[in-house]
Amino acid sequence: MSRPVGSRLVRKAVIPAAGFGTRLLPATKAQPKEMLPIVDRPAIQYVVEEALQGELHDILIITGKGKHAIEDHFDRNFELEEELRKSGKTHALAEIRDLTTAGRIHYIRQNELLGLGDAVRYARDHVEAEPFAVLLGDTLLRPSGECLRKLISIHERTGDAVLAVEEVPEDKVDRYGILEVESVEDSEYVVKRIIEKPKREEAPSRLAAVGRYVLIPEIFEIIDGLPPGKNNEIQLTDALHVLATRGRLRACRFSGKRYDVGNRFDYVLTTVEYALDRPDLVGIREALMSILKS
Ligand code: UTP
Repeated sequence: MSRPVGSRLVRKAVIPAAGFGTRLLPATKAQPKEMLPIVDRPAIQYVVEEALQGELHDILIITGKGKHAIEDHFDRNFELEEELRKSGKTHALAEIRDLTTAGRIHYIRQNELLGLGDAVRYARDHVEAEPFAVLLGDTLLRPSGECLRKLISIHERTGDAVLAVEEVPEDKVDRYGILEVESVEDSEYVVKRIIEKPKREEAPSRLAAVGRYVLIPEIFEIIDGLPPGKNNEIQLTDALHVLATRGRLRACRFSGKRYDVGNRFDYVLTTVEYALDRPDLVGIREALMSILKS
């Protein structure tokens, strides 16, 4: 595919995972919400796997206070490996070894939780002058990897920043970054405006950001100049809006399913749906149906 002059390939993924996760307290008091299990693996493992499926093998996770479990999860555990080897649990051994070798995972701590825009700013030294993907650590997409590859291909064709969007019900627009767009192709748009958590009557559309982005280094200088926005946080949406006014922001419609594991209702649904999809959990559908009927 031809790329705009001077544009660079996307090689790096950034996963913000520093947030407090207050909507899932008390579960998140002493453990990161990104480590809550979806069936038998923590949410963030699915996100790391998605980055790898998008051919992004250099991954920076933005962590913070109380997030050590994330680093431990992707690190080697020699005692455990030895135990699994001795007891012949070769499948489990292979799985935990794969985790530590699949990509190069780096970490940086967000000192103060000033918002998603501020979290992204911590990636500056790591990504340097390259475009990079951002995948929210508490959001899972299925099918996994497809959306990311599409965002990357749009960026590589245009040189612009790109975000994934989906249509949300009118009564939920106040939970998302909502876009005003101009259509380019079937599922691709030029973004004219993006506004964080608008009131229903102020929303320019029902197209909402779903937590996957390909950003350009210009974003850092924009974030530096931002005052706190909604909820007194440095909002990534506000920085994206500046890119939109400069004609440097595109959107791509995501047609799969998004799972926000950061709230109780969706967390339970995510667990059930991922369990139903597991071929090794024989009989799970029938078991759930009988619970629901009783
Ligand atoms: P959320 O706003 O959903 O996370 O941010 P939160 O602040 O943890 O949620 P609540 O409202 O308290 O329950 C989306 C993603 O961005 C990260 C979060 O960890 C999450 O993965 N994030 C958010 C940061 O890394 N730093 C921040 O300052 C804010």
